[in-house]
Amino acid sequence: MIENKNNAALNPSPSGEKRGALIVDVCLSPYLYPVYHKENTIVVVIDILRATSAMCTAFHYGVDKIIPVATLEEAADYKKQGFLVGAERNGIAIEGFDFGNSPFSYTTEQIKGQTIVISTTNGTQAIDAARSAYKVVIGAFTNITALCNWLKQQERSVLLLCSGWKNRFNLEDTLFAGAVTDILLKDKKYKSGDGALTASYLYQSAQKNPYRYLRNSSHTERLAAMGLKKDIKYCFTLDQTTVIPVLEDKYLVRMT
Ligand code: MLT
Repeated sequence: MIENKNNAALNPSPSGEKRGALIVDVCLSPYLYPVYHKENTIVVVIDILRATSAMCTAFHYGVDKIIPVATLEEAADYKKQGFLVGAERNGIAIEGFDFGNSPFSYTTEQIKGQTIVISTTNGTQAIDAARSAYKVVIGAFTNITALCNWLKQQERSVLLLCSGWKNRFNLEDTLFAGAVTDILLKDKKYKSGDGALTASYLYQSAQKNPYRYLRNSSHTERLAAMGLKKDIKYCFTLDQTTVIPVLEDKYLVRMT
């Protein structure tokens, strides 16, 4: 700790808050969420491959509500109650449920008007970690423009929560967080935390050809090895929907 008579000047608040500015920051793992939690901050949960891409797609194709659950036990209980359930672990659909976690599973008549349940390796864990936030919304490349336009209208700080891979860093979520940071920082009312600044530098170095930059990320390779290149391409495609899912109690609903 740096000590001097005017202690506050040399030791800004833990988050490095810059007085009066709206802060955009990035949390690289759900495990770190408690360190980043701040009241009145909007949390954007990110799981590009594939949970948040799949959730935005489901709403785009007419699902009414989604119940995100962190455990397969909860998913199984909802299945017993008659809900349609999507369950995935390690990129693989879990037997005994209706869907895995491919966005293409959520583009059929079957989900229209339904309340469905989803449990994934990382994305639903991140949602669970952030339930105490002022507001939790879902972000992906597929809704990035609508998401950023909405965020800019809220006049609140933003925490971009990367789902990562089993609480470790992953590239695609961080790249998306960098893209959102880049867009928000064009508006001078925002200041970046170091996590967001780093993610934006990463995005700037990748933006010429994100596909090329991401082709060797661990989950991209994992899904490609399972023959899911179509999912990868879909999840990296911008603005296929203007839907912004938002958490209301135990449900994700379409923001109106
Ligand atoms: C995750 O939860 O990290 C992903 O959604 C896993 C996947 O769908 O492959």
